[in-house]
Amino acid sequence: MAKSDATHFDDYPEQTRVKHSILRMYLPAYLNIIKTYNDKMLFLDGFAGRGSYDDQNSGNEVPGSPLLALELIASSQDTASKVHTAFIEPRNDHFQRLEHSVNNFVKSRGLVLDPWLVNAEFCETIAPILRDIDEKEHELIPTFLFIDPCGVDDVDMSIIANILRRPKCEAFIFFNMSAVSRIAGLLQTNNNTPSLNKIYGSDDRVEILRNTLPYQADAVAREQLIVDTYLDAIRNQGEAEYVVPFRVEYRDRRATSHYLIHATKHALGFKIMKHVMWEAARNEAGQEGRMELRQASAGDLSSQMRTDLVQMEQDIVNYLNSHGRSLVRLFCSDWVERPSDFFSEAAYKRKLLDMEQRGVVRVIAKDGSGPKPSSSRMKRKGQPTLANDYFVELIT
Ligand SMILES: C[S@@+](CC[C@H](N)C(=O)[O-])C[C@H]1O[C@@H](n2cnc3c(N)ncnc32)[C@H](O)[C@@H]1O
Repeated sequence: MAKSDATHFDDYPEQTRVKHSILRMYLPAYLNIIKTYNDKMLFLDGFAGRGSYDDQNSGNEVPGSPLLALELIASSQDTASKVHTAFIEPRNDHFQRLEHSVNNFVKSRGLVLDPWLVNAEFCETIAPILRDIDEKEHELIPTFLFIDPCGVDDVDMSIIANILRRPKCEAFIFFNMSAVSRIAGLLQTNNNTPSLNKIYGSDDRVEILRNTLPYQADAVAREQLIVDTYLDAIRNQGEAEYVVPFRVEYRDRRATSHYLIHATKHALGFKIMKHVMWEAARNEAGQEGRMELRQASAGDLSSQMRTDLVQMEQDIVNYLNSHGRSLVRLFCSDWVERPSDFFSEAAYKRKLLDMEQRGVVRVIAKDGSGPKPSSSRMKRKGQPTLANDYFVELIT
């Protein structure tokens, strides 16, 4: 177990708050979609922790992922009666507190199906269950897998991918960049790196890292290679076409602490998760969102200069230049569903509205009959809206 397992819950930093806010926003969307066609679902909290955090700022106890999930599940009769939960935690001290708070929740709310509490490690718990399911030719019920370790121990791609490959299963993974980088840094001097092989799910991927990392130009390129190789492993081994990484920076260091990675086989889940992640960062910064939580560098000029948004506008302009008038839907839906596109629907919409306001594009009525300026369109909270079935064209 990682050293910080013992002290992890003594504080409730911004990065944990953001992780929980992403989970809180996304999980109901997933469950509500899946429950339409399924009577049983599972929230599988593979690294459940002790159930609550001590928030040093407020002096309050804050719910951890198990209580947060139970609260969401209990909030509707439908999910309460359909969603099973499993919470895995090997540390005895954490497990006792977890058991106590989960049992208290069930006693006081009485709504949810009985949670399954396991005082053991993730892989040793799940591997035999998956084997058994396969031997009996049963199916795993649609499962939302949460992999949230402090370090990298027991983060096994073969288990994650085994679950992800199954119908309607998704994963939300804490990828500990600093720990993986440290181990990857030893690749040149150490031939035996079993933990890395387990994380990446294949000796070949680690071999490629060993052979290519030394030739990267700088630390940024090395980090990109490390995370991209992991994303590829999820895509290929987990057969999840849509994988989105959310970067989290340290509070006190201009470097990556970890990535929060979501993987799904479904474009809708991808779109919703991008929206959730983008807005989570947007709220923090009070400005346009991004697929990262900047902390140490939040006030830097480089953080204010949004080359990604400049590129987004350039791509839209290039497209309109070569294709002419186009439906708003093309950018705000079709483009958002491209697996390599990490902008959210709302970000595209805000960009188009901004381009309209600056006189770069004009909006055309749904029937194509002529301009439909913002003053003649519906407003929300005093701001003009832009429905997907309007057109946009460049003002030349
Ligand atoms: C980051 S904390 C989990 C926080 C929790 N998901 C939340 O949001 O409230 C990581 C937890 O994983 C536990 N852990 C460590 N090794 C584990 C393993 N092999 N299998 C499952 N859990 C493990 C640690 O004891 C620790 O409580």
